[in-house]
Amino acid sequence: MDKYVIRGGNPLVGTIRVSGAKNSALPCMAAAILTEDEVILENIPQVRDIETERRLLASMGAEVELGTGESGHRTTLCCRTLSDPEAKYEIVKTMRASSLVLGPLVARAGMARVAMPGGCAIGGRPIDMHIKGLEKMGATITQAHGYLEARADRLRGAHLVFSKITVTGTEDLLMAAVLAQGETLMENCACEPEVTDLAALLTAMGAKILGAGTPTIRVLGVDRLHGAHYRINPDRIEAGTFLIAGAITGGDLIVANCNATHLGAVIAKLREAGVRIDILGPDTVRVRPGNRLRAADISTEEYPGFPTDMQAQYMALATQAEGVSVVTENIFENRFMHVQELVRMGADIKVDGRVATVRGATRLSATAVMCSDLRASASLVLAALVADGESILDRVYHMDRGYERIEEKLAGVGAQIKRMGNIFASKDEVAAV
Ligand code: EPZ
Repeated sequence: MDKYVIRGGNPLVGTIRVSGAKNSALPCMAAAILTEDEVILENIPQVRDIETERRLLASMGAEVELGTGESGHRTTLCCRTLSDPEAKYEIVKTMRASSLVLGPLVARAGMARVAMPGGCAIGGRPIDMHIKGLEKMGATITQAHGYLEARADRLRGAHLVFSKITVTGTEDLLMAAVLAQGETLMENCACEPEVTDLAALLTAMGAKILGAGTPTIRVLGVDRLHGAHYRINPDRIEAGTFLIAGAITGGDLIVANCNATHLGAVIAKLREAGVRIDILGPDTVRVRPGNRLRAADISTEEYPGFPTDMQAQYMALATQAEGVSVVTENIFENRFMHVQELVRMGADIKVDGRVATVRGATRLSATAVMCSDLRASASLVLAALVADGESILDRVYHMDRGYERIEEKLAGVGAQIKRMGNIFASKDEVAAV
């Protein structure tokens, strides 16, 4: 298994470019199921989850190419024939977002067989709201042998009220509604930019949608959708991660190709913590050395609040801030997997349920640490960038799921980071890999 070797202490200086948003690309790729025409998506990140989604769609009979486009990467999808509308467990178990094919498959093909995603490192990750919404729209859903099977001759518009805000639940049911008979009113929807991105693609494909990005979305179902050529948003979580990388190393870093309007809560919180941030333009944000970092509390909320996907990264920064920062994780039940590894590096963090108390500033010392999930891994990279000595991060495949070539991007602005394959793996371990 590949590892990162990171020597801390270098301020990051220069310009680092953000890739396309993984969490926009995944629903947008699934949206191609809704038409027989070709869909071209620009600004696709080259990350493992996108390859997983490509394999998933191809396993159902879709033609999916990943290549180079206008600027960055492009995927061309054609779902003219969906010979096998089934999301198999061996793919779904590696990526929960596979459940995003459920709504579009039922809408387009009248049936879907999707392995139940199961939980992951950060929580149980149920999809009960996806299921309830489809049933409300007329689908018959049965569950057996770890799979759920959904059928409907044609979904019909309904009044859906989410009992809890769910990003992929909103996206899944939005894709179901665009081909349903009649009007669908969706309330208590997620307002994340990734939902707005998906709605913009669907509209370009001929869907009739009002209110995406607000808690109330109205959809007037149409009989068919056509192809589209669409560029997805920059990744706001990658951008936020880079802002913290600049801040934690005391560097002077320009984060380019981002969308500053999606970073409001993150920028406000970093400024509260003493980070000096200048918005140089709609797609460019600069972080520079400023005052000493000072403690500031965070409480993760749905968009436009402070994102749960930035909680682990912020906690790494909080270890370097003077004072006590209280970190409250409201979205997922087990999203403190990074804490014990940060403590092993010298951080002073106490966890009580969904609340972590971080006392800083503490000098972090380099050591070997284990990555456990995507954003926890990012937190350990940030900590290693400021720790004294050389850290070894194991199981970096977690990072590969959502960060494109991050070792190259960070090295390009002065980080001492190398990717090594099996540097300490024993012969047996290598054989086992
Ligand atoms: C999306 O996950 C993102 N993934 C996550 O990013 C992100 O952390 C999360 O939204 C919250 O912003 C993608 O977009 C692919 P939810 P999602 O449904 O949709 C509960 C990353 O690091 N819930 O908004 O799965 C759920 O358990 C990933 O890039 C139900 O109870 O999250 C959670 O407590 C991690 N029933 C809460 O809602 C349901 O049917 C929010 O989950 C659905 C969700």
